Amino acid sequence: MKRIVVFASGSGSNAENIIKFFNHTKTAKVTMVLCNNEQAKVFDRCKKLDTKCLHFNRADFSKTEKVLDILKKQADFVILAGFLWKIPEKIISAFPNKIINIHPALLPKYGGKGMYGMHVHKAVAENKESETGITIHYVNENYDEGGIIFQAKTTLTEQDTPETIAEKIHILEQRYFPKVIEEIIITTNE
Ligand code: GAR
Repeated sequence: MKRIVVFASGSGSNAENIIKFFNHTKTAKVTMVLCNNEQAKVFDRCKKLDTKCLHFNRADFSKTEKVLDILKKQADFVILAGFLWKIPEKIISAFPNKIINIHPALLPKYGGKGMYGMHVHKAVAENKESETGITIHYVNENYDEGGIIFQAKTTLTEQDTPETIAEKIHILEQRYFPKVIEEIIITTNE
């Protein structure tokens, strides 16, 4: 049984979906959620699911070894589910090809610093794209540039707004993210 630690910073709907999915498989379990935003809704979601959710700050993440030490004890795989800080090099090198992010667009389009959440959907709507989607990828030292594992698309019409795009993306994330994580865990032989 592999152990997953999930990073989240906001609503935590992906974190909740991942916790629930792995509560019903033998592949892996979510040991805890780490969150850098004390106000985040993810704390309530975790409480209801009886999953530990721990707050950390920038110093814990980058200056000291606090978060790294937690991961070394609690994680075989690290999942970024709506997490926006850049991952420090020491964490990336401790978990090569074990850190996985979800991005709410079809990378390499609409990626990079500042491209997250509704900012992505606003840009997609402004450019009148005919499709958008999700990208699940490995995390390296640059934002949104690690190897792509999986993409799923959704069609857009002229009527779509940033809000309706967000709903379409949410559906794809809920449908695919946990299953793709499970597949990665099964096919990673370590
Ligand atoms: C998700 O749509 C995720 O793809 C996005 O943040 C949202 C988090 O939602 N991530 C990024 O934009 C990363 N650049 P959630 O907190 O409800 O899971």
